[in-house]
Amino acid sequence: MDFYDLIAKRRMVRNFTDEPVSDEAIDRILDAARRGPSAGFTQGQDFIVVTDAAMKRQLAEFCGESFYTESGFDPFISKAPVLIVPCTNENAYHRRYQEADKTDDSGEEIEWPVPYWFMDAGHAVMLLLLAVVHENLAAGFAGFQDLPAARAALGIPAEVTPVGVIPIGHPAPDKRSPSLKRGRRTDHIHRERW
Ligand SMILES: Cc1cc2nc3c(=O)[nH]c(=O)nc-3n(C[C@H](O)[C@H](O)[C@H](O)COP(=O)(O)O)c2cc1C
Repeated sequence: MDFYDLIAKRRMVRNFTDEPVSDEAIDRILDAARRGPSAGFTQGQDFIVVTDAAMKRQLAEFCGESFYTESGFDPFISKAPVLIVPCTNENAYHRRYQEADKTDDSGEEIEWPVPYWFMDAGHAVMLLLLAVVHENLAAGFAGFQDLPAARAALGIPAEVTPVGVIPIGHPAPDKRSPSLKRGRRTDHIHRERW
């Protein structure tokens, strides 16, 4: 598929069939996710792959799946064959930027212009989502409503932040997000200056 067609085909899908997803496809998708750029090549992102039904139900609960189903969505988190939880580690960036090649003249860590640990998580997640489309699969995203519970259930170290859940599977007809009514912006380009 043409690269721009692949980008246009990507959308957040909120319903999946029962058809399993191959381990090989998940491996390729995860390999794509680690090829993104990262500040200082810190690579401070980790991914937890969940296929256990009980853990999927728990994570769905921590994302408030019942609120989705009460408003007409399918149980797209608990029902997805595979969940991937992308995580980012702010402290890994601080440690990297305290290394000799990254400190300023006084040996101090830089003033961070923006939180690059979240920017790099976005890079990784975007590559992952595009790889999902390339595999003829579909993915969604759900943020945690109870992040401490998710962290505890998955045994995530205190310095690592799970940014949400990416359900992956074969797409089934789904209810579209009401947010899409906003339409896609076309006034976002500022040439030469804002
Ligand atoms: C940071 C972020 C958080 C999101 N959180 C949720 C969420 O909690 N639940 C959900 O159903 N969709 C969530 N989405 C999906 C957006 O609603 C979706 O990307 C947007 O409506 C545009 O639709 P599209 O991705 O299908 O083009 C999130 C997307 C991003 C990038």
